[in-house]
Amino acid sequence: MAVRRSNLLEKSGQATDGALVQPRPFLKWAGGKRQLVPALRANMPKQYGRYLEPMIGGGAFFFELQPKNAYIADINEELVNLYLVVRDETEALIRDLRKHEHNADYFYKLRDADRSGTYKRWGPVKRASRLIYLNKTCFNGLYRVNAQGHFNVPFGDYKNPRIVDEDNLRACSLALRDTKIVLGSFEHIRKVAKKGDFVYFDPPYVPLSTSANFTSYSKERFDADMQIKLRDLCIELDRKAVKFMLSNSSAPFVLELYKDFHVQLLDASRAINSKAEGRGKVKEVLVRNY
Ligand SMILES: C[S@@+](CC[C@H](N)C(=O)[O-])C[C@H]1O[C@@H](n2cnc3c(N)ncnc32)[C@H](O)[C@@H]1O
Repeated sequence: MAVRRSNLLEKSGQATDGALVQPRPFLKWAGGKRQLVPALRANMPKQYGRYLEPMIGGGAFFFELQPKNAYIADINEELVNLYLVVRDETEALIRDLRKHEHNADYFYKLRDADRSGTYKRWGPVKRASRLIYLNKTCFNGLYRVNAQGHFNVPFGDYKNPRIVDEDNLRACSLALRDTKIVLGSFEHIRKVAKKGDFVYFDPPYVPLSTSANFTSYSKERFDADMQIKLRDLCIELDRKAVKFMLSNSSAPFVLELYKDFHVQLLDASRAINSKAEGRGKVKEVLVRNY
């Protein structure tokens, strides 16, 4: 894929107004880790080889660290396409984002485009631009799909959503410059991670109550079997002297799964939660093997 970047940034690493830009996630993502970044930083290893994050989501920790030669992946095809476009086709993406309109009719037309047969023929930039637009204008900035994989969040009716944040997109493109971006399920990381590498896992959380649903980021569900597979992979990585850190809820099932590792309880306030009474401080865990 051709690499096209702003010449200005290529030369100076600065934004169009001359200020240095710290990249931030270009999407609001359920389970985004912005509030936990200080705790993640405090608990990461002092030394490591490569940084690997196989469930990248909005990438809050990745953009904070801006690691060199990193490896990121996710199972969500639209998301991985967006990362590739942000890295390689930044200016074309910015141009396409400027074309969007902000009203409910336009929103629903674009949202429902993935229900038509022609969507498969959309190019990467148009798909990436649609995802950013929907994320900035849909209710609560959620990404949610139904069982058929169709985006199904309603219009958010926000006054002035920031659809085109060009300085941040350019800063993110630079941060992704040497990063390998891969579509796939987390299990493939066992072949990628080498002794001394550092893997940060941030899976869909085990629900704290039995009535809560597992968050649906893709049409594949992340159920208890997947949580066990992930724990088994952690055991395997530990044997290979790969360092790992993992976030999850403090559900008893999680505490049981990781009882042989270092488990720390953290306070976190969840920004995205469908039930108002679910907002506020909850305990989360941070697991690590070093
Ligand atoms: C809690 S979110 C990650 C949030 C991210 N740390 C952030 O700061 O925005 C979990 C991510 O795991 C991804 N995911 C779900 N199942 C997966 C699988 N089997 N393999 C890889 N990624 C998966 C979802 O698409 C989602 O992006």
